[in-house]
Amino acid sequence: MKILVTGGSGFIGQHIAEMFASEGHEIIVIDKRKNKWPFLYENIFLVKEDIRNYGKIKNHFDDVDYVFHEAALVSVPESMKKPNETVDNNVKGTVNILKAAVEKNVKKVIFASSCAVYGMNDKIPLNENAITDPLSPYAISKLSAEYFLKMYNEEFGIKTTSLRYFNVYGPRQDYSSQYSAVIPIFVNNALQDKDLIIYGDGKQTRDFVYVDDVINANKMVMNRGDGEVFNAGTESKVSLNRLAQQIIDLTNSDSKIVYKQGRDGEVKYSLSDISKISQIGFKPEINLKEGLEKLITFFEET
Ligand SMILES: NC(=O)c1ccc[n+]([C@@H]2O[C@H](COP(=O)([O-])OP(=O)(O)OC[C@H]3O[C@@H](n4cnc5c(N)ncnc54)[C@H](O)[C@@H]3O)[C@@H](O)[C@H]2O)c1
Repeated sequence: MKILVTGGSGFIGQHIAEMFASEGHEIIVIDKRKNKWPFLYENIFLVKEDIRNYGKIKNHFDDVDYVFHEAALVSVPESMKKPNETVDNNVKGTVNILKAAVEKNVKKVIFASSCAVYGMNDKIPLNENAITDPLSPYAISKLSAEYFLKMYNEEFGIKTTSLRYFNVYGPRQDYSSQYSAVIPIFVNNALQDKDLIIYGDGKQTRDFVYVDDVINANKMVMNRGDGEVFNAGTESKVSLNRLAQQIIDLTNSDSKIVYKQGRDGEVKYSLSDISKISQIGFKPEINLKEGLEKLITFFEET
């Protein structure tokens, strides 16, 4: 098969690209930046291009069977500062991907949406019929993109599925930016005995899902769930207080937990109900402790 991964120089996209490359498929990555970590397989070809530029990307869809659309501006706090850029990357970019996929007869587009679309809805666990309440330009852009996938499925006949990822973590996730996710920052700091900073009271909860499980969810919907939206999480939650302490314990760290003021647009409680995706065979395999241990080993080795 020929598989196109947008955002394949990033954390999740590279894992998707490498999983399919390991099976011998031909992989095209479209990303506006070069991959920081070398691709582990030679059958991955990087097209360094911006998905907002339709004319430049469309010919790379020739003979493509499946598209995994991961490219996006990914940070909630960054999106609060850059609403226009968020809409441009995440909505316009997604429409470009759908247009090209229709024009080139791609079999299916699978989209990386986010649990952020549920916003402050605290009727957890959240199933896919829960009320959406997007609180940031990022969350609004993901929900809009989902509607575009549904519309393209209904109006243009292209198969599409949106996966609402919960908080994904795993090897090669960036820890170095002010917008990085909490787990890689905590692990990196704990290994150096630096403070672990929690924004807010630390009682906020998250559903952390290991990247390999998210890759499995993507595989699962290749031939199922057309026109549908599915949660991709674990159905287990942890508070940031507990998470920070667990990482300190697992790394034998002398780090201290330090509290700072909560950030705008961040949700308090997040927990998936995964009964819908379970019905098509998805089951998370890696619990938080195992995932953190794998990640810590990765940090220590690299
Ligand atoms: N990591 C998570 O916890 C999480 C949770 C929910 C949803 N998601 C979604 O999963 C996807 C992948 O996230 P990630 O954590 O791997 O992020 P990442 O930042 O590591 O990867 C995103 C990649 O997209 C590329 N990109 C951004 N805008 C682009 C553009 N206009 N043209 C071409 N390339 C562009 C970036 O260069 C980057 O390599 C994103 O769509 C994100 O919104 C991630």
